[in-house]
Amino acid sequence: MEKTTDYFLRYKNYNFDIHTTPEYIDSLQSFEVRDSDIFLVTYLKSGTIWTQNIIISILEQDGGLPAHPTNMRQMPWLEYKPKHDISQRPSPRLLMSHLTPRLMPPGLKNKKAKIVYVMRNPKDNIMSYYHFCCALAHWETPKSFEDFLEQYLAGNVVGSSWFDHIREWHDERDQYDILFLTYEDMVLDPKTAVTKICSFLGRKLSEAGIDHIVEKTAFQNMKNDPKANYQFLPKDFLKGPFMRKGKIGDWKNTFTVAQSERCDQIFEERLGDLALKFIWDAELAPQP
Ligand code: A3P
Repeated sequence: MEKTTDYFLRYKNYNFDIHTTPEYIDSLQSFEVRDSDIFLVTYLKSGTIWTQNIIISILEQDGGLPAHPTNMRQMPWLEYKPKHDISQRPSPRLLMSHLTPRLMPPGLKNKKAKIVYVMRNPKDNIMSYYHFCCALAHWETPKSFEDFLEQYLAGNVVGSSWFDHIREWHDERDQYDILFLTYEDMVLDPKTAVTKICSFLGRKLSEAGIDHIVEKTAFQNMKNDPKANYQFLPKDFLKGPFMRKGKIGDWKNTFTVAQSERCDQIFEERLGDLALKFIWDAELAPQP
């Protein structure tokens, strides 16, 4: 383990937030995965807490999910040691993670447990991440947007490289039971996204039930929902909101043309062969 900055640690070629330890990360290699486990995997700032709220709402409506005061308690992080032993939780267990495949519990490869993977266009991801770095008290506030952009593109941030995350999960997708979604498709057509997640999880909800979840998890409603909006985090931990703008194309308000072109070029070099289709601008999005 190499201490890289005051807020992240480099271990196994990945940058972890300092709130975890190498021992705990190693212990995930013997984490016993249950067939009924549901994992949500994302790179940071890709719509994690939104998708978390959707998954929880689906399971709550379908019945059999024990109540918890917050979504964070109901669907905890895999990579941070919980106060209460996860192995004692009743099924189905719900877990979130920002880890890459090689750091995940190997038991996931039997393809019984399910993984929902959400990705977001990297320019909006960068924008959201930049604001998050400014808000999270124990992380270093970026010197400037330009400086943050360079750190992000080099993978010198918690979560390491966005490009590696997308590449590794795509390269290994055949080894998992995994549903890929994009943040942009979720924003443009939330009903289809909720329906997809529901059927992937093998849950049958009525159309009214789906509509209810779409409404409940819509940005403005979720922003006012104390169970889901993460405002429960202490102010000396998080100075700004998790629920910031929730838009496609916010990057255009900050990126220079040169910065945008630099991202396009790196995106093409690193992931061009995957033929991923991101929506970069809501106004230019194809109509469903
Ligand atoms: P912005 O910072 O661009 O607003 P994560 O949960 O992975 O940290 O991602 C946070 C991003 O998801 C933030 O993006 C946040 O506003 C957005 N988000 C959270 N809930 C959302 C919702 N219900 N609808 C749309 N976007 C949402």
